[in-house]
Amino acid sequence: MQDTLSSPILAGQTAVVTGGASGIGKSIVQRFLEAGANCLAADLNEEALAALKEEFAAYGDKLDIARVDVSDRDAVEGMVDRAVDMFGQMDIIVNNAGIMDNLLPIAEMDDDVWERLMKVNLNSVMYGTRKAVRYFLDRGEGGVIINTASLSGLCAGRGGCAYTASKFAVVGLTKNVAFMYADTGIRCNAICPGNTQTNIGVGMRQPSERGMAKATTGYAGATRSGTPEEISAAALFLASDQAGFINGETLTIDGGWSAY
Ligand SMILES: NC(=O)c1ccc[n+]([C@@H]2O[C@H](COP(=O)([O-])OP(=O)(O)OC[C@H]3O[C@@H](n4cnc5c(N)ncnc54)[C@H](O)[C@@H]3O)[C@@H](O)[C@H]2O)c1
Repeated sequence: MQDTLSSPILAGQTAVVTGGASGIGKSIVQRFLEAGANCLAADLNEEALAALKEEFAAYGDKLDIARVDVSDRDAVEGMVDRAVDMFGQMDIIVNNAGIMDNLLPIAEMDDDVWERLMKVNLNSVMYGTRKAVRYFLDRGEGGVIINTASLSGLCAGRGGCAYTASKFAVVGLTKNVAFMYADTGIRCNAICPGNTQTNIGVGMRQPSERGMAKATTGYAGATRSGTPEEISAAALFLASDQAGFINGETLTIDGGWSAY
């Protein structure tokens, strides 16, 4: 099938993508590069970043990579500064990095897991969004923020309680930012993927028995899992001027699973 999205609709723009070395983030980086943007891919995984740089070597200096732990405020702020230093501007930030919580329901939740989830899945989005909004306001030309939430940011029964709470909070933060700054040319939207084929489950050991049974209750209604490319296509659309009047939206991408 002809990929009509791959025209240079982001030519001259610069994007920062967290969790950019794997899965959905990697596919967003690829889409943005294909669309003509400069891209800073930030990730915790240095090996995966190096592999990314090699795989996309054809883009040369248009792709920068940086090891960033998104739970570290200074590192996230430094990431934006780095993109601006390197490319002269930042137009788009995708706060995408995230982790899962072994599907733990609350009786099985310990404080360490909860705090780690909130730092990586929620605080990171606040740090990246705040830094981007301050930068966009300073520059006075608006800008685009895309936050990767999840179906678990809209439906309560498909993940562990920390993951679900973190993603509901990402949706609330996204809508609040969208409304507060709608008059400045800043657009802030969230993508809400359903089950997608990535590496996110790779580190999941011993998921909760109760959590697994409950979270998969409605899975018979899912036709299939999605591909990272099906998610990144939505991110590219939201990043582009084609989505110029879309602000504060949550875009569900789940093949109809949650429509039941
Ligand atoms: N895969 C799914 O089914 C699914 C569904 C809904 C939402 N999501 C969301 O999509 C986003 C991307 O996940 P994915 O499925 O592509 O998973 P993935 O594991 O393939 O990619 C996530 C990337 O984030 C990086 N990362 C993790 N912690 C980090 C940190 N502290 N600092 C910087 N980078 C970090 C990882 O190294 C990895 O490269 C996440 O926010 C996830 O919650 C995924």
